[in-house]
Amino acid sequence: MKILIIGGGNMGLTYAQSILKSHILEKKDLMILEKSPEKIEELQKMDIGVIHSKPESCITKADLIILAVKPQDTTTLFPILKPHIDKQQVFLSIMAGVKINAIRKSLGAEKIIRSMPNLPAQIGMGMTVFTSSTEVTRIELVTVQNLLNTTGKTIYLENEDLIDAATAISGSGPAYVYFFMNAMMEAAMKLGFSPSQAELLVGQTFLGSVHLQKQNDLTCQEWISKVASRGGTTEAAMNSFNENRFHQIIKDGLESAHNRAVELGNR
Ligand SMILES: NC(=O)c1ccc[n+]([C@@H]2O[C@H](COP(=O)([O-])OP(=O)(O)OC[C@H]3O[C@@H](n4cnc5c(N)ncnc54)[C@H](OP(=O)(O)O)[C@@H]3O)[C@@H](O)[C@H]2O)c1
Repeated sequence: MKILIIGGGNMGLTYAQSILKSHILEKKDLMILEKSPEKIEELQKMDIGVIHSKPESCITKADLIILAVKPQDTTTLFPILKPHIDKQQVFLSIMAGVKINAIRKSLGAEKIIRSMPNLPAQIGMGMTVFTSSTEVTRIELVTVQNLLNTTGKTIYLENEDLIDAATAISGSGPAYVYFFMNAMMEAAMKLGFSPSQAELLVGQTFLGSVHLQKQNDLTCQEWISKVASRGGTTEAAMNSFNENRFHQIIKDGLESAHNRAVELGNR
């Protein structure tokens, strides 16, 4: 099998590195198509697959093509690709908000897998959801799932609408986590800790809490009650969060993210 990654930016590079690290593919069978001369030079220095600058030189050689460009770049990219594609080629899109039907219409491809990864994919701790057009065979789907699994965990979704929902949860999710961590770090510094101490206090608290929660069947609410004793410090914080409708504010934020994902997909 030969894989072509179109777009050697943050995500394209993440996939290239994860694929090679997992030994799913040999370097000679991985191609990257990039248009920026500076990035091409960087990629060549990294010795990461065969780097191409023109679609015509690589598109027909690939069995699986990963679309890792920004959605707006497809307006110029797709018309160039269209005359060269074969209906048997599988396209894996990681582009936010671009529907399977939009890819089918503007690219003329039939075997299309749409996925939504998130940033921790860069370190093999990503969360990716994916769905596919009916033309993709079970074997092709398993091959792509194995490939996506090299960047973390995956969930296959029958319903494409849930990709927008996952965009609001796991796609944007890392930003919510950093937002909360940042607020806790600022509070720690206000209480007298240095920036590096604040970072360690907060970072290790997040890491430890997530690992602990994953090792057990308890719900988040049950974990909260293990920390919060009656009349104690945690309860004081929880009371303040509840008075300020913090729980609802988070849910409203995620709903706004979902609405925006739907809106972008309908453009
Ligand atoms: N970053 C994330 O956390 C994340 C998460 C989920 C999904 N995504 C999706 O992943 C996709 C890529 O995001 P990214 O952050 O990796 O973007 P990026 O760093 O900008 O990478 C895209 C690369 O594609 C290149 N490119 C554009 N048009 C091209 C063409 N016609 N032929 C070859 N290369 C071309 C760009 O070159 P130029 O710089 O010269 O334009 C750039 O190097 C996006 O669609 C985004 O929605 C990203």
